Amino acid sequence: MVENTGGIEALLHEDRTFPPSEEFRKQANISDPNVYEEARRDPEAFWAKFAEELDWFKKWDKVLEWNPPFAKWFVGGKLNVSYNCLDRHLKSARKNKAAIIWEGEPGDWAVYTYRDLYREVCKFANGLKSLGVKKGDRVTIYLPMVPELPIAMLACARIGAPHSVVFGGFSAESLRDRINDSQSRVMITADGGYRRGNVVPLKQNADDSVTGETPVEHVVVVRRTGTADDKMMSGRDIWWHDLVADQPLTCEPEHMDSEDMLYMLYTSGTTGKPKGIVHTTGGYLTGTYATTKWVFDLKEDDVYWCTADIGWVTGHSYIVYGPLANGATSVMYEGSPDYPDRDRFWSIVEKYACTILYTAPTAIRTFMRWGEEYPAKHDMSSLRLLGSVGEPINPEAWVWYWQTIGGGRCPVVDTWWQTETGSILITPLPGITTLKPGSATHTFPGVEADVLDEAGNSVGPGGGGYLVLTKPWPAMLRNIYGDPERFKETYWSKYPNIYFAGDGAKIDEEGYYWLLGRVDDVINVAAHRVSTMEVESALVDNPKVAEAACIGRTDEIKGQAIVAFVTIKDNVTASDALIAELKQHVATKIGPICRPDDIYFAAELPKTRSGKIMRRLLRDVAEGRTLGDTTTLADPAVVQSLKEQYGDED
Ligand code: PRX
Repeated sequence: MVENTGGIEALLHEDRTFPPSEEFRKQANISDPNVYEEARRDPEAFWAKFAEELDWFKKWDKVLEWNPPFAKWFVGGKLNVSYNCLDRHLKSARKNKAAIIWEGEPGDWAVYTYRDLYREVCKFANGLKSLGVKKGDRVTIYLPMVPELPIAMLACARIGAPHSVVFGGFSAESLRDRINDSQSRVMITADGGYRRGNVVPLKQNADDSVTGETPVEHVVVVRRTGTADDKMMSGRDIWWHDLVADQPLTCEPEHMDSEDMLYMLYTSGTTGKPKGIVHTTGGYLTGTYATTKWVFDLKEDDVYWCTADIGWVTGHSYIVYGPLANGATSVMYEGSPDYPDRDRFWSIVEKYACTILYTAPTAIRTFMRWGEEYPAKHDMSSLRLLGSVGEPINPEAWVWYWQTIGGGRCPVVDTWWQTETGSILITPLPGITTLKPGSATHTFPGVEADVLDEAGNSVGPGGGGYLVLTKPWPAMLRNIYGDPERFKETYWSKYPNIYFAGDGAKIDEEGYYWLLGRVDDVINVAAHRVSTMEVESALVDNPKVAEAACIGRTDEIKGQAIVAFVTIKDNVTASDALIAELKQHVATKIGPICRPDDIYFAAELPKTRSGKIMRRLLRDVAEGRTLGDTTTLADPAVVQSLKEQYGDED
C-alpha cells in the first residue's frame, strides 16, 4: 500500500482561511495591499526607503550593483550595525527601555536597557581590541544563550570584526573545523550552560577544539556555571569579567563599508563540509530591520520573544539584529521548554507579558502532544501575534497554535527563509494577508520568487517544482567564506542568474506558496539543517563501519528523523550495543542534534549502476512503503533483502 506522504496531500487541500481581523488591520504597521505593487515596480526604491530609516555615516551612492551572482547593496554607504542597534536609540527615551530581557534556565533573570547594553558592548569591544582584534579579524563565539552572546556579537560589529557564532550543541570537532575555516585568533566561550537541569560543558569542548595546531591565541571565558575555575590555561584563557573590568565605557564604532562582512555562519550543505555563509553590513541590516518591523508588526511597547538559539540564523536576525535595530524589547531564554516543567514557555510569556512569540513547528507539535493543560495554567492574553519558522508547519499544528496559544485572536505568520537569505522572504503581512494554515503565503514586498520545473520553466498555478528567487534582495548571502566556486555551484548553477533555494514548493490557484521540504540531501531535523553526507562521514569514521547512507524519515514531532543504513566490516558483529556506540559516535563527532534516530545494518546498500546510493529506496524501506521503481538498481536483490529485514510486509 502506498502510504500517506507526510501530510502534503492534506496540505494542498487546505481550505480554511483566516483574514486579518478589523481590529488588527486598523493598528497594523502596514495594511495597504498596494505596497506589493509599488515594491514590484521599483524594488530598489522600496528597499532604500527602509535603509533611510537607519543611521548612515555616509549615504550610499547607488542602491544596487548586480553582477550575477554577486550583489552589492547600498554601494559606497558607510554605517555601523552596533551603532544602529544601540547608539541611535540613546538619543531618545528609548535609552531606558529594556533591550534584552534574559532568563536563565535555573530561573535567574536580568534586564538590559539600551543604555546598559551599549555600555557592556563598548566595554567588551575595548576588551577585544586589547587582545589585538582589529577590523576584518574573525572571532569565533561558542556560547550558551546568555546576555554575553549578543553583547559579544555587537562588540564584534562595533569594531568591524566579523563573528562566527557556533551553536553550543556542536561538538569540539565541529567547532575546530569552523575555527580553522574562519582562521579565528580569538574564541569566546563559557565554562558551561544550563540545559534541562544539566551543565553543557562548553569549556571542555572549547579546550578540545584548540589542541595541536590552531589559529586561536586567546580564549575569553564567561563564568556561568562555575565548572571550569580550575581549567583556565594561563597565557591563553581570560575571564570575560577580568577582560572588561577596567575598560573604558565608550568605544568609537568603526565606519564600515556597506559591503564589509558583518558575520559568517556555518550551515550544512549537501557535502560533508559546512559552508561559511557570508553576510555583509548595509543590506543585511536593512533586510532584517524591514522584515522585523512589518512581519511582526513591531510596535514600541511590544515584548517580542523569538525562542530560537542565537547559534542559528533565526537568532542572529530575529533575536539580535532585526529587533535591536528597531529598538524593540527582545526576550532571550537560556534553556529547555520542559524544565522544570512543560509549562516553562508559557510561564515566560506570562511573566514578561510577551506580545509576540516566534517559534518552530517542531516545538508546537511537541506542545500539542504534551497537552493543553500546560498553556492553560498561564495568562497568555498579552499575546497578539504568533510566528513560525524553520520547516513546513502542518495545518493541524497551525490551527492548534492559533487557537490554544493565540486564543483565536493572534495572526500566525509562517515565515520561510534560510541562513543564506539572511531575512524572511516568504511570509504573510499580518495586517494584509488572509492566512491559510500550512502556507507561507506570499513573497515579502520587493522579493521575487518562482517555482520552476527541471528545465527552468515556471510551473504556474497549481504546479509543483523548485523554489527559486529571481531578483537580488538586500540581506542575501554574498559568498561562501573562502569558496566562491562552491557559492556559484551550489546556488547559481542549476538556473543561470537565478538563486536555487534547495526547497520544493507549489503555488496554488490563488498564488499562495506552499513549501514542501528540501529537494537535496539535507535533512530538516526539528527545524535544524543536517547534511546526510556529514552524518555518513561521521559514521564511516568509526573503524567498524565500511559504508553508510543516511536519509530523513518523516517524523510526527521533529518533521524528519535521521535514519542511517550501515554496512559493517566483515569481522564485526551487528548488535544493539553497536547501534548505541554508532549513535554516540555521531553525537560526539558532530553534535547531539545529528545523532541518528535509527540505525539499520545492511549487507549492502542499494546503488545505481553508476554507483550512486539510491536514497529514495532507503526512505521507502525506512517508512515501510511499497518500493518504487528499482529498475536502475545495479542489484535489485540488495533492496529486497533490506526490505525483508526491515520493511513492512504488504
Ligand atoms: O527547507 C527550508 C526550511 O529550512 C531551510 C533553511 O534552514 P536554515 O538555513 O537552517 O534556516 C532556518 C531558519 C530560517 C529551508 O531551506 N524552512 C525554513 N522556514 C520554513 C521552512 N520550510 C517551510 N516553511 C518555513 N516557514
